Amino acid sequence: MTHEVAVIPGDGIGRGVVPSAVDVLEATEADLTFVHDEAGDAVATECGDPLPAETADLARRADATLFGAAGETAAEVVLPLRSAVDSFVNVRPARAYPGVDALHPDVDVVFLRENTEGVYVGDETREDGRATLTRVVTADASRKLAEFACEFVAERGFDGLTVAHKANVMQETDGLFLETVEAVADERGVAVDPVLMDALATHLCLHPEEYDVIVTPNLAGDVLSDLAAGLVGGLGLLPSANLGDERGLFEPVHGTAPDIAGEGVANPVAAVLSAAMMLEFLGYDEEGERVRTAVEDVLADGPRTPDLGGEAGTDEVTGAIVERL
Ligand code: NAI
Ligand code: MG
Repeated sequence: MTHEVAVIPGDGIGRGVVPSAVDVLEATEADLTFVHDEAGDAVATECGDPLPAETADLARRADATLFGAAGETAAEVVLPLRSAVDSFVNVRPARAYPGVDALHPDVDVVFLRENTEGVYVGDETREDGRATLTRVVTADASRKLAEFACEFVAERGFDGLTVAHKANVMQETDGLFLETVEAVADERGVAVDPVLMDALATHLCLHPEEYDVIVTPNLAGDVLSDLAAGLVGGLGLLPSANLGDERGLFEPVHGTAPDIAGEGVANPVAAVLSAAMMLEFLGYDEEGERVRTAVEDVLADGPRTPDLGGEAGTDEVTGAIVERL
């Protein structure tokens, strides 16, 4: 059975790295049909809406969506796209690879970030020199995330999970988040280590090898996973999967990188590894693993893009990955 994949490159380096990911997917045995559409700053300028209804419908209908990045309109594109696929968790693995100069060579951690609420619900006001933001946490969303996290830990044979929180200060919101995750983990016999998120930031810098799976509220996951990107060699390496029960949206963690956009030197690895996560989501586990191995080989032996100290362009690295496949 063929799977329909929506391809939405967006702006900036999204236009370079998403075609790389498609090239790699086409080199696998997976039975995929690609449907292309547009979103982001350029579309907003052209037709007034950064996420045309047609693009959102495509994501809602497709089995999976491959997205690059949007520039200034990111929030107006990414957040609705994540809800178009009903995603409740953002899975962000951060790994150090042999051959890549990392601050910590033994990082292998996965962030499971709540993806629908927290401070990203968009309820903000500013008036007379006073701005406010409403933070929303529900037992339902926390439970859904916790259930996914417990299954994730069990399937992959980890000892337990870490929960990032600040329930000592945000007693109701993070209090509810933490209590719910702890209750679900207790029901399922999964060990939980609750850690204050500020202390966790320090500890991740000093001893990242001590962590496997970290469950986080929305904003904390955004920040801590970017921190982990710094530990392993940069944003060019970090993929992500926004998962719903039926559909998924797969995107590199990085943005449009305006400083290098259009130069043909963006690292395609984050987008290609996002495509590997998509393959696994669609049931092509073996193909996903093959893509990951091909990426690892190329990172170890080169060619590499300038963010990793190399001199190769996006196309050369993509070609090397395809050749390994
Ligand atoms: P960014 O991730 O675009 O860039 C940060 C730094 O990392 C830059 O120096 C960039 O050159 C480098 N970098 C990122 N990805 C790279 C890659 N694949 N290869 C080589 N170098 C890479 O974040 P920044 O600069 O904060 O944001 C730029 C724009 O992207 C903003 O307009 C922002 O709104 C948007 N953005 C969009 C996101 C999305 O659509 N999901 C996520 C983050 C930012
Ligand atoms: Mg971010």
